[in-house]
Amino acid sequence: MINSSNTLSFELGLMGAGIVQVAAAAGRSVVMVDISNAALEKGTKIITSSLARIAKKQYPDNSSQQESYVDEIMGRVKVSTEKESSASNADLIIEAIVEDLKTKQSLFKTLDESAPSHTIFTSNTSSLPISSIAKSTSQKRQSQFAGLHFFNPVPQMKLVEIVKSEQTLENVIKELSQFVKDLGKVGVLCKDTPGYVILFLLFYFSFSLKGSFSFLFAKNGFNIWIYSFFFSFNMVYIIML
Ligand SMILES: NC(=O)c1ccc[n+]([C@@H]2O[C@H](COP(=O)([O-])OP(=O)(O)OC[C@H]3O[C@@H](n4cnc5c(N)ncnc54)[C@H](O)[C@@H]3O)[C@@H](O)[C@H]2O)c1
Repeated sequence: MINSSNTLSFELGLMGAGIVQVAAAAGRSVVMVDISNAALEKGTKIITSSLARIAKKQYPDNSSQQESYVDEIMGRVKVSTEKESSASNADLIIEAIVEDLKTKQSLFKTLDESAPSHTIFTSNTSSLPISSIAKSTSQKRQSQFAGLHFFNPVPQMKLVEIVKSEQTLENVIKELSQFVKDLGKVGVLCKDTPGYVILFLLFYFSFSLKGSFSFLFAKNGFNIWIYSFFFSFNMVYIIML
């Protein structure tokens, strides 16, 4: 169960730090893993500055309360450069390293050998198919592999795409949905086609929302045909979602 978990976030780029922050703020024990101490320090700084800004807003006139707010959350964050031993204690791994298929596959291959069999693997990739990243892991792990696509800036953005590949088990999606909810975010289930929901929304709002329902009011045959097409297209998209 993810509920009792250490949530590992690999690499402390922009997204990794944001994910660690929201998980720790939601009460999770988190291990941030990176390749160097310098990178870990940089990530820690990103998180503490962001938490300090929140604390200042929450307790504008009380600096000791601001401090204890930051300390309490940071108390749940451990740092490590040891990916294998960190993975051996994880229930959930969220990867947010560079957007490169081979680099991600190589990391997950190593993690698959170290993590317990129940550990759920996720990637924050924006553009790579989850099934391609998961290919470097065992068949069993591929069924516990999904996308967890946070948006930037993570602490502010509510939406998280939960990406299901053909191999991902339903109960894994259920656990991830609960995890996302516990972070105070809104999860949207997507098929393994990166950008799917966002592209759909862009299309929907910029292109056809106006037209798709106005077929009800269209005066001539051509308009009715065009508007009906948009309407049906949108309905198909909604059903696919
Ligand atoms: N930036 C965004 O707006 C955004 C939004 C959603 C998803 N994402 C996804 O999140 C992931 C991380 O994006 P980011 O913007 O945080 O990137 P980033 O460049 O800020 O951070 C990436 C991290 O990967 C590390 N890295 C570089 N080479 C590496 C290697 N060979 N092995 C391991 N780590 C290495 C870097 O040190 C860095 O800490 C990507 O998959 C990206 O597609 C980014």
